[in-house]
Amino acid sequence: MSEIERYLPTLERVAREAGALILEGYRRGVTVHKKGRIDLVTEYDVAAEKYIFAQFAKAHPELQVIGEETHGKGAHARDGGLVVYVDPIDGTTNFAHGHPFFCVSIGLCRGAEALAGAIFAPALNLAYFGAVGHGAMRNGAPCEVSQESELHEALCATGFSYDVVGSDDDNLAEFAHVQAAVQGVRRCGSAALDLALVADGTYDAYWERDLQAWDMAAGAALVLAAGGKLSDYQGGHADPRVGTMVATNRRLHDKVIALIGEVRAVKKRL
Ligand code: IPD
Ligand code: CA
Ligand code: CA
Repeated sequence: MSEIERYLPTLERVAREAGALILEGYRRGVTVHKKGRIDLVTEYDVAAEKYIFAQFAKAHPELQVIGEETHGKGAHARDGGLVVYVDPIDGTTNFAHGHPFFCVSIGLCRGAEALAGAIFAPALNLAYFGAVGHGAMRNGAPCEVSQESELHEALCATGFSYDVVGSDDDNLAEFAHVQAAVQGVRRCGSAALDLALVADGTYDAYWERDLQAWDMAAGAALVLAAGGKLSDYQGGHADPRVGTMVATNRRLHDKVIALIGEVRAVKKRL
């Protein structure tokens, strides 16, 4: 058994258990605090992260664990050891409003390589697990990225980081440009689930900027495990610890990169 396979059962189990924990607060009037003007946190984010940290400390004390609510924006490991990145609720805005599109996301990385991930969306009863080189599973069945190669047939997804208000890099021009070229663009509010939906072939492509390690690590591993492709906006290596991410079914990758590049080239000239 490889090192990664050794950790996968814990990733799966803990994501499911933390998901059950946050489901207890779903549509029950949770207490919401603001980390920024539109960046929310609830007592369930904090409790679920505490639970996940305790479980890893017990099962695998040798692993470094980094979480959104414990470490804060920009935190990631700089050395090459194995690190678990935890987003106790990805899609907190949805969770706080009673919208079912949120999940627990737990990803295992070594440096800038995403290795394995577990994503569980308890209100949708969608569970994803996988490791690069070992395939990806959706609710117990193997899943793969789509085979679509035509932009006009593609369903895509994106998201908007919390600093978009007042920023000149707000993803709105990219959104409009891609929307005009494809069948549709969804903006559902959980980067980790968006990536899982690329891994299972629902979405053909996804892009977003200014993501954190806990948003990307698990979903990035799932996309790779399911045969997809990741890069930054320029087509270079996507670092799942911070930055921009384009995730596709591979066939559409260059076309999506080209669309995003067209918009960003115009912005630069203005
Ligand atoms: C957010 C979600 C959202 C994405 C934001 C993330 P959070 O994470 O993934 O879809 O657009 O960039 O920060 O705050 O709900 O954990
Ligand atoms: Ca997140
Ligand atoms: Ca979160």
